[in-house]
Amino acid sequence: MTTLLIHAEQLGKTYRSGPGQELAALRGISFTVARSEFVAVMGPSGSGKSTLMNILGCLDVPSSGRYSLEGRDIGRMTGDQLAHLRNRYIGFVFQGFNLLPRMDLRDNVALPLLYAGIGRRERRRRAMAMLERVGLAGHAAHLPSQISGGQQQRVAIARALVTEPSLILADEPTGNLDTHTSGEIMGLLTGLNADQGITVVLVTHEPDIAHYARRLLRIVDGLIGFDGSVSEYFGEGATA
Ligand SMILES: Nc1ncnc2c1ncn2[C@@H]1O[C@H](COP(=O)(O)OP(=O)(O)O)[C@@H](O)[C@H]1O
Ligand SMILES: [Mg+2]
Repeated sequence: MTTLLIHAEQLGKTYRSGPGQELAALRGISFTVARSEFVAVMGPSGSGKSTLMNILGCLDVPSSGRYSLEGRDIGRMTGDQLAHLRNRYIGFVFQGFNLLPRMDLRDNVALPLLYAGIGRRERRRRAMAMLERVGLAGHAAHLPSQISGGQQQRVAIARALVTEPSLILADEPTGNLDTHTSGEIMGLLTGLNADQGITVVLVTHEPDIAHYARRLLRIVDGLIGFDGSVSEYFGEGATA
């Protein structure tokens, strides 16, 4: 096991924005993330944050540059290999929760294990353990519509954790939540990072949320504008 989890070298991403027109969403992004880091990604709307997260999550491939995850060069992989890597190493938490509405919470959490080829009984056992961990075991048989937004995001985190990933990628996970509930969700992510050493990379536009992380990566116009400690970025001195 290497200590380096993410190695991004000169990542570029170009989208076709119209006939004969191209838009450079990422223009040469280089950074590494070691195991157990907690990184906040900030930057103006349209600066390329989600594009970067999609590449880090192996949901998309860069147009140029190199990306390695867990020491594996993503550029050399087939679609099937990428899907396997995603399922094995990455848990996703999005702003919109993305739970399946007709499936109860236990089955929602168990879903990534189905793709991993794990048997039904073991899937349910692990899903219950994860619901327990996020404090929702008592709601296992409920549908997503029967619980609050904050609870739905907890379920999404349980689903992200069920495959025991080394990396959690969260794109504005508290964007739809009130301040108190956001604090609870961030407490949960902080605990997973501190207690289990799960690496967290989280996009947010809120300074309060970024303060849960130690490192801040600021993306401006498809480039890295700042990469350093959160306290340094916000001009708070090197006190902690
Ligand atoms: N699938 C896509 N096709 C074309 N353009 C896209 C696509 N996804 C994002 N973009 C463009 O790329 C730029 C970066 O977008 P995005 O990564 O979503 O930024 P952010 O998450 O920082 O708001 C924007 O100009 C956006 O319009
Ligand atoms: Mg975005």
